[in-house]
Amino acid sequence: MNSPEEFREQVGQLYKALTALLAGFVVFMVLVVAYVNNPGLFESKEEGWVAVPVAEDDPDLIVDGIHQRTGLIDAEGLNTVISNCTPCHSAKLIIQNRMNAERWNTTIAWMQETQNLWDLGDQQEIIVNYLVTNYPPKAKGRRMALTDIEWYELDQD
Ligand code: HEC
Repeated sequence: MNSPEEFREQVGQLYKALTALLAGFVVFMVLVVAYVNNPGLFESKEEGWVAVPVAEDDPDLIVDGIHQRTGLIDAEGLNTVISNCTPCHSAKLIIQNRMNAERWNTTIAWMQETQNLWDLGDQQEIIVNYLVTNYPPKAKGRRMALTDIEWYELDQD
């Protein structure tokens, strides 16, 4: 027969072992419950990640019809415009200025005379077509002044 001291010690060890087992079981059950609720939990996230493309990675990136690096509309002539019209200033300057073909040609001539813009050759037509097609002058905000009005006497009786 064990002495009472030995017996107490054995009970103590058994108690510790059971506690450890119980703790392990609790952790296991937490993981089981988590997995049941979300089976994808322990899968590698690597594939699931959607890489969001950014213009820094791809200078030609187009999202929703907009060239991300410059903000210009993706349309015929875009690359010609980018290579000739964005080296000196932001494309914002272009996007903000809505003009007809005549005024674009004047603006280009002004830049050539005063800002060292090079001769655009055949590309000028491509560029101006792109500009008037994609950035046409906005409709006037105010109606035209009224002319040719036949005034009449208001009968106030
Ligand atoms: C060689 C440099 C250079 C290139 C290339 C260039 N520009 Fe400019 N552009 C300028 C400068 C300098 C200004 C004046 C900027 C300012 O006022 O801050 C300017 C101004 C403008 C403006 C504003 C004009 C205004 O009346 O305020 C527009 C619009 C513009 N550029 C469009 C274009 C387009 C379209 C092209 C391509 C054909 C182009 N630029 C290419 C130098 C350039």
